[in-house]
Amino acid sequence: MVPVSLINADRLWARLMALAEIGATRAGGVNRQALSDGEIEAWRRVIGWAQEAGLTTATDAAGNLFLTLAGRDRAALPVLVGSHLDSQPTGGKFDGAAGVMAALEAVVSFAEGGETPRRDLIVVAWMNEEGCRFAPGMMGSEAFTGARGIEAIRAVRDTSDISVGEALDRLHAAFPDLARKPLGFMAAAYLELHIEQGPVLEAADRVIGVVTGIQGKKTFQVVVGGAEGHAGTLPQQERRDAVAAFARMAAALHAEIGAIDAETKFTIGRVTIEPNAPSVVPSRVTFSIDLRHPDNGVLDAAGARVEALCHRHAPPCAVTITPLVDAPSNDFDSELRERIARAADDQDLPAMAILSAAGHDARHLAKVCPAAMIFIPCRDGVSHVEHEWAEPEHVAAGASVLAQVMRDLAFANQPSAAEA
Ligand code: GLV
Ligand code: MN
Ligand code: MN
Repeated sequence: MVPVSLINADRLWARLMALAEIGATRAGGVNRQALSDGEIEAWRRVIGWAQEAGLTTATDAAGNLFLTLAGRDRAALPVLVGSHLDSQPTGGKFDGAAGVMAALEAVVSFAEGGETPRRDLIVVAWMNEEGCRFAPGMMGSEAFTGARGIEAIRAVRDTSDISVGEALDRLHAAFPDLARKPLGFMAAAYLELHIEQGPVLEAADRVIGVVTGIQGKKTFQVVVGGAEGHAGTLPQQERRDAVAAFARMAAALHAEIGAIDAETKFTIGRVTIEPNAPSVVPSRVTFSIDLRHPDNGVLDAAGARVEALCHRHAPPCAVTITPLVDAPSNDFDSELRERIARAADDQDLPAMAILSAAGHDARHLAKVCPAAMIFIPCRDGVSHVEHEWAEPEHVAAGASVLAQVMRDLAFANQPSAAEA
């Protein structure tokens, strides 16, 4: 059994399960997409738990949620710790929520014990990490770190033509009393706990992953333009069938990009066809491409190949390729990684270094302050599925390691690297 003296493991698990009721799907998963009614309800519940523990609550122009345990030294930079509360449409109970709830559990435990940190400890839930309702994701952390302007983010629309701006205003209107923080502020450090979302920790029988960095990722939106026609009368050789062109592109992309090497991950996850009628030759196909690789050189070459293959297989249709995400692999802060490894060791938890194959908001935070992540295993390595599962003792172990590192950083008297 894992020692969890720094947190209340039962409360953490009960709250995580209570949160999973919001947006619960029939198959045991969660559909709580960014800025939805479900996410508003999740905010209400999380804010209630934070206020019960005496934390102050705030948001910012990007719809990030901040829950603060005030420190003694008002001039000291805060430690930010969190993840996200939004989910994929057929997501699980742990992706994002585990990180927010573990961070909250740690600060609630400190507050309960009457412990006042030197610097503010701020739990954060970033807006739209997942990027399924509004693409691309990680909007909250991008706005916070200045990677993308808030006006460009507000202009993005979902498939029902609702803009991020409209959805954000609705979120803010639901919490009229919530204080507003300025968009982006300096932090001494950022920490994020997350389920691994892959099979490595489970296979190696380790409970804690000390995340070294995140593999690189590129995403594209591709629009294939053809011409509508009658399915029974338009001669085959005169057609500019957008689905036929898409099929050629998809086959070539899967065959060539998928075969680059075992580390290349290539996905076409969303396809929309217009007019999407059985007896009309399709005039337009819009599809997504998600491409990942740990080696930035290979990723760049694969990205260029993706664009070339789309152009080669489009005729007689037209094609427009819009790059959305271009995020190279990054390394997390070595001192924070050492602290995480030491905390796992102190708590007798088997740990290993691991590269994150999934993307996280920590990628953006790492550009503005020392940042690091803690992984815990998930069953069969699966995530972004409704049966995603993490064992209660692993959630508790990860939260306890997180709490120890938070204590190291926020209670110590020495200045942070950013203050020195
Ligand atoms: C994050 O959710 C990702 O898709 O990597
Ligand atoms: Mn996540
Ligand atoms: Mn996710």
